[in-house]
Amino acid sequence: MITQKCAACHGAGSPSYEEWNLDRKSFEAKSLGPRMDNYSDLMRHVVWPATGSLARRLDDGKSTGGKPGNHYAALGATEAERAKNLALVKRWLGDGAWNLNRWEARDNVPAVTKEQLSKIKAKY
Ligand code: HEC
Repeated sequence: MITQKCAACHGAGSPSYEEWNLDRKSFEAKSLGPRMDNYSDLMRHVVWPATGSLARRLDDGKSTGGKPGNHYAALGATEAERAKNLALVKRWLGDGAWNLNRWEARDNVPAVTKEQLSKIKAKY
């Protein structure tokens, strides 16, 4: 699913997260996000250093009571497909492992805790 829906902008032509992070603006201008077409690069957006970014982007808005993440739309062409693919990602991560928190606190959002991270059942 990730390859199908995300690799066009997060594939082999994309920089590593760290490289992308040094110059986000110029990569964004080319519609390139950080590389996520392999397991270890993908997990950097779940666990560390881009903790919770996968969940923040893909959330349907129900976890925050606000707007959906800006990549929720990338999960599918129809609401049914988006809901199905979101459920798939959540199931893969494990029960209670849908963490939107960052590694460090920002604004009113606290940093992720070890308890939250320990709920991630996908291996890493
Ligand atoms: C049309 C191109 C495009 C597609 C398709 C796309 N993305 Fe992105 N993505 C981007 C761009 C450009 C950025 C950087 C701009 C931004 O932050 O929104 C980004 C940012 C992200 C980030 C934030 C990274 C960080 O640490 O800040 C995550 C996570 C992400 N995308 C995941 C996904 C996933 C998962 C999919 C597939 C379901 C996907 N993207 C599909 C272009 C895309």
